[in-house]
Amino acid sequence: MNPGLALGVVGASLLTVAMLFTAGWDLPPADTQQTGYRGTGMVVLQDREEQTALRAANQVPPVPWELDTSGQKASEVYENVQVLGDLGIDQFSRLMTAITEWVSPEQGCNYCHNPENMASDELYTKVVSRRMLEMTQAVNTEWDLHVQQTGVTCYTCHRGQPVPQNIWFRGGDPDDRFAMAGYSGGGQNTVGVGNTSLHADPFSELFSFDGVIGVTGPTALPTGHEVSIQQTEKTYALMVHMSQSLGANCTLCHNTRAFNDWNQSTPQRTVAIQGIQMVRTLNADYLEPLTSEFPPERLGPHEDVAKINCATCHQGAQKPLNGVSMVEDYPSLRPEQ
Ligand code: HEC
Ligand code: HEC
Ligand code: HEC
Ligand code: HEC
Repeated sequence: MNPGLALGVVGASLLTVAMLFTAGWDLPPADTQQTGYRGTGMVVLQDREEQTALRAANQVPPVPWELDTSGQKASEVYENVQVLGDLGIDQFSRLMTAITEWVSPEQGCNYCHNPENMASDELYTKVVSRRMLEMTQAVNTEWDLHVQQTGVTCYTCHRGQPVPQNIWFRGGDPDDRFAMAGYSGGGQNTVGVGNTSLHADPFSELFSFDGVIGVTGPTALPTGHEVSIQQTEKTYALMVHMSQSLGANCTLCHNTRAFNDWNQSTPQRTVAIQGIQMVRTLNADYLEPLTSEFPPERLGPHEDVAKINCATCHQGAQKPLNGVSMVEDYPSLRPEQ
């Protein structure tokens, strides 16, 4: 071989290797968490760098101050407390301080209040927050099969921002310009969940109560079991969303030789199905009825309200905030039933 050419080949190979490394190519080994029997390949891979970043992003804010339980109840002191009336005034003030830090640290109390009249409900953010208080209480009391004793606070979703980072709106072109044979593109063949061209909006259908998640028929041959390509794509798109939200592979929940078989699935799949029901309920009972309260610029292209999916709470962690419970310090967010 011509020495110049040989040198070129060596140079090019070195350059390729260098590019792989500089482009953020991670080296094995990753940590693994076994989720099924040995030999089934059921493990969750955890990249060490990502885990470090995840730990940094999931630090829990400190409790503002020690609670003083003496003193009057909020309902005896204030004019317009419909949810938190039973709290002692110190506990009430502490929660207001915490909420400010969780939701609107830059804007302060006035994000929800007219400082001239704290009792007034003139700002939509206060009206929404009151319902959010009820929603948080409902998650912590009615959905303990999913959230266990860890529970959630406003911080789980908001992380110091008025609008949570992970929300979704109904997809597709509202004018249906691409509607063809009664089927609007609605997110088909656009870059969607997980950078795939799977359906970009699996949520509108599958996070509604009559959404059917599933593809597999009960028999080996296609005898009567009909699942459209669109439904299959939506199922897979939702699964990619669920995996990404939890920072896990499919094998956190499935034995991949039989995705449908519950007997070969992990306990996490059962927790996930609770999560799906919870997301459906929170959107239908809390977010959607608030639509008319939100100003137009907060609504999506179909004038629908921003909604919750798995990433709203999980944000890439298998358990939100890596399983650290904040609710214990704010018992009013998990009232006794
Ligand atoms: C993210 C929204 C939000 C923020 C920020 C917020 N509050 Fe509130 N505040 C509420 C809601 C909702 C209520 C009504 C609670 C209820 O109905 O039980 C309320 C009620 C009150 C009341 C009772 C007023 C009355 O007479 O009825 C006071 C006092 C109060 N907040 C003080 C504060 C202070 C002080 C801050 C800042 C440290 C603050 N709040 C920040 C949402 C907020
Ligand atoms: C399960 C997730 C979740 C939890 C928990 C949660 N929120 Fe929200 N919140 C949302 C979503 C989704 C929206 C809609 C986003 C938008 O404003 O468009 C929202 C909107 C809001 C808004 C309106 C912000 C704006 O500028 O439009 C306020 C204020 C708010 N939440 C306060 C709270 C408070 C206070 C708590 C705790 C008592 C809380 N939230 C708990 C998900 C959550
Ligand atoms: C957090 C748990 C979880 C993860 C991670 C997960 N799934 Fe699922 N999967 C479920 C649940 C729960 C169902 C059943 C939903 C239902 O019945 O409503 C399901 C259903 C399915 C089905 C339909 C099976 C049938 O009955 O036809 C397929 C296919 C599937 N998942 C594939 C995947 C793939 C591929 C991945 C990875 C990209 C994945 N799943 C990741 C929980 C999970
Ligand atoms: C309101 C917030 C919230 C939402 C929304 C949410 N989760 Fe969770 N999830 C939690 C909390 C909190 C835990 C931790 C419970 C615990 O400590 O075991 C959890 C735990 C889980 C676990 C168990 C993890 C493990 O290793 O034990 C799975 C699986 C899971 N969620 C799946 C989902 C899926 C799938 C969705 C969307 C369909 C979803 N979650 C939506 C709050 C949420």
